[in-house]
Amino acid sequence: MTVYGTRPEAIKIAPVVSALRGDPRFDLVVISTGQHREMLEQVNARFGIKPDYDLALMKPGQSLNELVWRALEGLDALITKEKPDIIISQGDTSTAMAAALAGFNRGVRVVHLEAGLRTQDISSPFPEEANRRIIGQVASLHLAPTNVSLENLRRESFPAEDIVVTGNTVIDALLAASTWDVSFEDPRLEELRRNDKRVVLLTTHRRENLNAMKEIGGAIQDLAKTYPNCVFTLPLHLNPRVREAVLPEVEDNSNVIITDPLPYDQFTALMARSYLVLTDSGGIQEEAPSLGKPVLVMRENTERPEAIVAGTVKLVGTDRKRIVEEARTLLDDKRAYEVMANAVNPYGDGKASSRVIAAIAELVGVGRRMPQFEP
Ligand code: UD1
Ligand code: UDP
Repeated sequence: MTVYGTRPEAIKIAPVVSALRGDPRFDLVVISTGQHREMLEQVNARFGIKPDYDLALMKPGQSLNELVWRALEGLDALITKEKPDIIISQGDTSTAMAAALAGFNRGVRVVHLEAGLRTQDISSPFPEEANRRIIGQVASLHLAPTNVSLENLRRESFPAEDIVVTGNTVIDALLAASTWDVSFEDPRLEELRRNDKRVVLLTTHRRENLNAMKEIGGAIQDLAKTYPNCVFTLPLHLNPRVREAVLPEVEDNSNVIITDPLPYDQFTALMARSYLVLTDSGGIQEEAPSLGKPVLVMRENTERPEAIVAGTVKLVGTDRKRIVEEARTLLDDKRAYEVMANAVNPYGDGKASSRVIAAIAELVGVGRRMPQFEP
């Protein structure tokens, strides 16, 4: 049973769902909690995934507790009905935490995909750092994307034999996306294919950043005014709290393009067309280095240090002046830019979903693990 509910989980679980579907050793039940709606449907449609069950949990303004108890209630009924041997939970969302707990409480073995990410700060990202620790406590198999995440788990005394380094399935998805023919629905984005203007791609949505989003919006506005020949693209998350904070600060004009969330194929094509990425997203920190795009992460910390070590990602926090200064360095200083603009793949090699399936097959006694991921 695979369970997911938000956009990034859907993207990262899609290669695993495809691989399981084609494998006669497994019967698959795909469950969407529907924590997201439009943003999830975009991914399902692109990857051709139709969940067997959809709990349709999204409700504007619901609390984290309401979301979690409704997920537990819905998932418990489905676990009781379908009686899975294994539940696969991806990442660190409320959906992922509820799926792991619901499985554990019913005696089902839990497999944690993208295990072992840590900031070591329980309040940031909120509530994700707590969610992933809780999932770790109840999981039988920890599928760590990198050696850094393996080491985090080993420090917390999880047995070595329960951990497999697989690489991150996000790179499998990105490689699939790179083979698709893409056209942009928004003519302003399509136009970017016909010119050579420098494009800065921005996203923001983190809960712990909600108070800082005015600053982030202000930084976008400052940069857009300073660089009239650059194009600043902002595919904006549907969370109304994000929109209320950011939109009044930024003017949608010829060099600022604000859009709704883009379908995954269009988003990755835009990332590939970009010069520079500013974000507080987790998944984008993993994808952009693979495309050789420097990333400024608008957060105080990150659970993804690998690309920082590789030199393509830098943490810049959420202060308006600091964001502007750091972006200016990369836009003005070609050498500083080139130092960061290297394609590196610390997160995966496109075979993560094969390693995931092999590790699960070994857990249930129908196969053997593959050699672990080494960047
Ligand atoms: C959630 C995850 C976060 C992940 C992010 C990916 C939790 C606690 N948070 O945060 O870890 O990084 O997804 O994007 O699990 N909305 C829509 N349509 C959609 C999606 C969202 O209208 O398709 C609006 C709704 O008003 C919803 C709100 O956005 O209530 C917030 O969604 P929610 O899933 O609670 O939190 P995210 O900030 O998206
Ligand atoms: N993404 C997308 N459309 C967008 C913005 C992002 O398809 O408009 C993809 C992006 O390529 C990445 C994922 O969504 O794979 C990241 O999701 P998000 O930033 O919402 O969540 P996080 O990764 O921070 O949990």
